Amino acid sequence: MNKNRWDTVIRILHYLMAIGVFFQLILSFFMQPPQAGTSETLFQLTTYSFHRWIGIFVFFIVLLHLFWVIRSRDYRSHLFPYSRQGFYKIKEDIKTLLHLQLPETGPRQGIGGLFHGLGFLAVLGMGLTGTFIFFFVKNFYSFFPSLHSFISYFVWVYFIGHTLMACFHRFMKKSW
Ligand code: HEM
Ligand code: HEM
Repeated sequence: MNKNRWDTVIRILHYLMAIGVFFQLILSFFMQPPQAGTSETLFQLTTYSFHRWIGIFVFFIVLLHLFWVIRSRDYRSHLFPYSRQGFYKIKEDIKTLLHLQLPETGPRQGIGGLFHGLGFLAVLGMGLTGTFIFFFVKNFYSFFPSLHSFISYFVWVYFIGHTLMACFHRFMKKSW
């Protein structure tokens, strides 16, 4: 792996995950899971069905992504910079930001990777709770659907913040 560039596999997995999460967020506005005692429209049930199957697909992509990250020391330390050296790099990036300059992009350690890792964990959490619901949950007013909804707020914040940052970096000509 070139230390300053993402490899093709990670780019493909990343954009499949990003497009999948985008669809999931949009579908969540329209869908309604089937519930005893309530009547859902065909549109609400169909969009929920899409949500279930796209969700399983996204979870599979996230697991492949995780596997690809775990096997590379550089990717691991980018997403999970929880070491003395990682914290030092984050501190350096904060100083750069305080001088109103953007830190470098790419698979290096630093503040970007810290946030990428947290966003990735949030999407992993959606996939885990969603897949559990898929196989085991019949009552949607229970713990796992509530946890799934709770994590979705973090995914929304990450999705919007990360997309804006990516566009901003691109605008400043510093992105992948
Ligand atoms: C919720 C959806 C998304 C998640 C979970 C996500 C997650 C990540 C992660 C974990 C990385 C580090 C590389 C990797 O391991 O793949 C990354 C990098 C990147 N993402 Fe996303 N991403 C999402 C959506 C997007 C979208 C919609 C865009 C574009 C508009 C985007 C643009 C980028 C760019 C340009 C980088 C490289 C940044 C750099 O070089 O430092 N991402 N993203
Ligand atoms: C990474 C994959 C997934 C993402 C990003 C995602 C995203 C979301 C979002 C944003 C909501 C709306 C939460 C709210 O506003 O309350 C939601 C609700 C829901 N999702 Fe997913 N989802 C994913 C996977 C799945 C899977 C695989 C299933 C399988 C059944 C599933 C089942 C549900 C159900 C039942 C709800 C309604 C929960 C409630 O309102 O209490 N999701 N999802």
